[in-house]
Amino acid sequence: MPEKILIVDDEPEMLQVLGRLFKRKGYEVHSAECGEDAWRRIEQTMFDLIISDMAMEDLSGLELLKRLRSVDDTTPFIVITGVGTIESAVQAIQMGAFHYITKPFRNKDIEILGERALEYGRLRRKFEKFSLPHAEEEKLPRMLTGTSRSMQDLMRTVEKVSDSLAPVLIQGETGTGKSLLAEKIHYSSSRRNKPFLTIDCGALTETLLESELFGHVRGAFTGALRAKRGLLEEAQGGTVFLDEICEIRPPTQVKLLRAIQEGEIKPVGGNQIVNIDVRFISATSRDLEAEVVKGTFREELYYRLAVVPLCLPPLRERREDIPLLVEHFLKKFCKKYKKKISYIRPEVLHMLHNSPWKGNIRELANILERGVLLAENEVITMNCILGANLRARDASSREHKVALPLKQVVEEAEKRAILQALKSSNDNRSKAAQLLGISRRALYDKMAAYDLD
Ligand SMILES: Nc1ncnc2c1ncn2[C@@H]1O[C@H](COP(=O)(O)OP(=O)(O)O)[C@@H](O)[C@H]1O
Ligand SMILES: [Mg+2]
Repeated sequence: MPEKILIVDDEPEMLQVLGRLFKRKGYEVHSAECGEDAWRRIEQTMFDLIISDMAMEDLSGLELLKRLRSVDDTTPFIVITGVGTIESAVQAIQMGAFHYITKPFRNKDIEILGERALEYGRLRRKFEKFSLPHAEEEKLPRMLTGTSRSMQDLMRTVEKVSDSLAPVLIQGETGTGKSLLAEKIHYSSSRRNKPFLTIDCGALTETLLESELFGHVRGAFTGALRAKRGLLEEAQGGTVFLDEICEIRPPTQVKLLRAIQEGEIKPVGGNQIVNIDVRFISATSRDLEAEVVKGTFREELYYRLAVVPLCLPPLRERREDIPLLVEHFLKKFCKKYKKKISYIRPEVLHMLHNSPWKGNIRELANILERGVLLAENEVITMNCILGANLRARDASSREHKVALPLKQVVEEAEKRAILQALKSSNDNRSKAAQLLGISRRALYDKMAAYDLD
C-alpha cells in the first residue's frame, strides 16, 4: 500500500506542483484547499505525512496542527511558510511540526524533506511496536533518533544486536549519549529484568577498580574489613557497563580479559572461583583502536569487547536532529519546572542551530534547561541562556539583537527573502511574487514599505 500524503494549500497551483512531485515518487496524494477541508479528511483517513501552508483563511496551518496534535502526536507535519509567517513557523515546530520550509523553495528541497518526514514516521511506528513496558519507560529517559542518516543507521544496528549477547563497544565524544545508549540496549534485551550495573573505569584507583569488578575477600588489602562481592558477580544474568574503558591499566586489562574468556572470576585475595554470566557493554570517548596501536590497550581485550562497535556521531555532524532534540528537552524541562514556553526568539534558534556543541547533547540539554528556568512571559530569549556554555564573542555579537522587537526580526527576514526572490527571478516581479507565495499587490506594498524599489 502506498503511503498517503495530504497537501493543504489554498493555492491550486501549489497543490498541483506538489501533487505531481509526490505522485511521481509513488505516493498516494490527497489535497485540500482549505484548513477545514483538510481537517475533515484527517478525521476520515490516516495520513503518513501532512504538508500544509501556513496562511489560510478559515483555519490556519498552525490551528490545523494544533487540532491534529490533540488527537494524534505522531503523524509528521511539514509547514510551508511565506514571508511574514516565519514566527508562526517557529511556533509550529514547538507544537510538534516535523519541520518547516520557506517559500520560495526548490522542488528537490521539499522532496527530500518529505522523504525524511516519512522515514521518521516509519521509524516511529516501528519503535512504538517495540516500546518498553510502561514502568521501564518511565525509568529510562527517552533516546531520540532524529532524521540524520548516521543516527538512523546506528539505531537499526542497535535494534538488531540488542537482544543478542554480543559485547558492544560504544565510541563517541562526551555527551553524545553513550551511557543512555548502553542503558537502552540493556532494557531492550531479554536481560531487562536482570541487573544493569555501571562502573566508571576512570574514576577509581587500580586496586579499587579491581575489587569493585571482581570483589575481594576479608583482609585482601588494608581497609578490606569485610568480604565484598564484585560487580561482575552482582550483575549475574544481566549487563555490566564499563564506562571509559580505555582508562583501565594493563594488569587489570589482563584480569578482565581472563574473566571474559573463561567466564569466571576470582575475588581479590581469594581462591574461590565464581562463574559469571554477564553481557559486556563498554564505552569510550577516546579512540580505542589508536590505544591498541600505541600498545596501551590489549588487542585481544579490544576484540573481545568490540564485537559490535557502535559510533555515536557528534551533534554538530547531525544538526538536522537539533529541532527534535530542542522540542524534546523543552517539553521535559517545562514539565520539570512547571513552566510554559510558547516561543523561542529567532536569534536563539539560530544560535542553537549553529553552535559547535563541543559538549554535544548534554550541552544542548543544559542550555535549554537554563533557558526554561529563566524564561519570562513564556519566551526564551538570548538573555535567558547567555552565560555557561556560550562563547563570549558569540554572546556579545548577538546581544544587541536581544533588544530588537520581534517585528523587526521578522521584517529583516522578509526583506532578505524578497531580495533573494527578485534576484533569482531576474527582477521579474510577478515571478518573484509567485516564488514568495504572495500576491503581486502584496509584493509591491512590501517593497514600498521596505524602500526596495
Ligand atoms: N538521543 C538522545 N535523545 C535524548 N536525550 C539524549 C540523547 N542522547 C543523549 N541524551 C541526553 O544527553 C545527556 C548526555 O548523555 P550521556 O549518555 O550521559 O552521554 P555520554 O555518556 O556520551 O557522555 C543525558 O542527559 C542524556 O539523557
Ligand atoms: Mg557517560
